[in-house]
Order: sequence, then C-alpha cells, then structure tokens
Amino acid sequence: MTDTLTIALSKGRIYKETLPFLEEVGIVPADDPEKSRKLILDTNREDVKLVVIRAADVPTYVQYGAADVGVAGKDVLMEHGGEGVYEPLDLKIARCKLMVAGFPGARPQRPRLRVATKFVNLTRQYYARKGEQVEIIKLYGSMELAPIVDLADVIVDLVDTGNTLRANGLEPLEHIADISSRLIVNKASMKMKQARVRKLIDELRVAVDKRNP
Ligand code: ATP
Ligand code: PRP
Repeated sequence: MTDTLTIALSKGRIYKETLPFLEEVGIVPADDPEKSRKLILDTNREDVKLVVIRAADVPTYVQYGAADVGVAGKDVLMEHGGEGVYEPLDLKIARCKLMVAGFPGARPQRPRLRVATKFVNLTRQYYARKGEQVEIIKLYGSMELAPIVDLADVIVDLVDTGNTLRANGLEPLEHIADISSRLIVNKASMKMKQARVRKLIDELRVAVDKRNP
C-alpha cells in the first residue's frame, strides 16, 4: 500500500488529544473509534487511513511498517526501545511524569526492593543506572494496589494530578522522566514516502507551536 499513508493511534486519551491536530492538518476520520468496532478507519482523505490499536502496540506497528506513522507516549517508547522508528516531533499532549511511588517512609522488608510495574524494561534500566539490584514484578494495570497488598515495596507508574496515588495512601518518591506523546515514523516510510511524511511533520509542528507559544 505504497500510496496510502497509515497512522497508528490508540483509543482514549491519545486519540482524543491527537484528533484536533489531525483536523488542523486536514485529516478527519470517517468514524469515531470510541463508537465503531472497526480497527481501520477511513478519513476524508483517500490516501490516509487510521489504525486504532492498544497504546503499547503503536511502536511495534510503526517499527515493522504496518503503519507509516504513529502517536505514542514517551513511556511506551522508552519501554519499547525505539528500534526502527524516528521520533521527529513532541506533540506535547498527554503530559505526565514517570515516577517511583510508594508509602512515605516505608522500609522494605525484603533483601531486594520489589518493584511492580508494567514498564519492566525501563524500570530495569532505571535501577541498573542507579546500581541498585531490584526484583521486578510485571503487572498490566492498577499498579497502585501492589504496595497496599504487599505485592511490592514500590511501583513505577505514570503520575499526573497525583490523585490516584493519594487516593491509595501512596506518594511520589523518585522522578524518572517527564512524559508526553511523540509522533513516530517508520524509517523506510521516511524515505519511500518522504514528501508526504515531511509535509505531515511540518504541518503538525506548526500546529504544536501554535498551541504552545
Ligand atoms: P491501552 O488501554 O491502549 O492498553 P493505556 O491504558 O496505557 O493503554 P492510556 O491510558 O490512554 O492508554 O495512556 C496512553 C498514554 O497517555 C500513556 O502511554 C501516557 O503517555 C499518557 N498517559 C497515561 N496516563 C496519563 C495521565 N493520567 N495523564 C496524562 N497522560 C497520561
Ligand atoms: C494512569 C496511570 C495512573 C493515573 C495517574 O492511569 O496509570 O494510574 O493515570 O493519573 P493521576 O496522577 O492524575 O491520578 P489511567 O487513568 O490512564 O488508567 P489506566 O492505566 O487504567 O488506563
């Protein structure tokens, strides 16, 4: 499908926050992914399609060229590793922080700190950089529960308002990274579909700058 430009997005936060940017550059989806069960959405432009997938799968689709471009959180990109994709633009949406969180002043009962997270790779790298040996437990969500039921000493998770941590008696302990969503591009598409991809990046950059003066 060399003449189609395929854009990978995830439902929810990223779709909602990316939609105004797409509209600004003249791309309007034909269906609402929150309502439709379709996974490939047509747009007003015959040469542009959207694929709607899980957030953590976006870099994989773009890496293998199943989508030419995509929008993914920096957390997801750090976890994926970023192979096979360029990251030309910070869209400055879905902003939050990646943090270590836990009970204030708690002393771990185990010889090694036990960390629950869905970000296993980046957590391993974070503690390796600190020279700290930890045990990592992979979870798929609701990480805040883990310290409460003593499944883990701390969690590595995203924090925005801090409401989820507070509601569970936890607090942020260490800042790992500032997070926002990035436009990513398949490396081959950047060459093969250069004119269209570059135009999209340039137009989106103008839209981002307009919104963040
Ligand atoms: P999926 O449901 O597709 O498996 P998900 O639940 O991680 O994935 P979202 O919650 O929509 O999907 O998060 C998508 C991205 O938005 C995250 O990768 C992160 O970059 C950002 N994000 C997550 N939580 C917040 C938050 N509370 N505030 C701001 N941005 C956030
Ligand atoms: C994210 C994250 C935290 C919460 C942080 O979850 O995993 O639980 O947001 O936001 P806060 O600091 O403003 O409370 P999300 O709401 O996306 O739920 P999900 O992980 O179940 O998708």
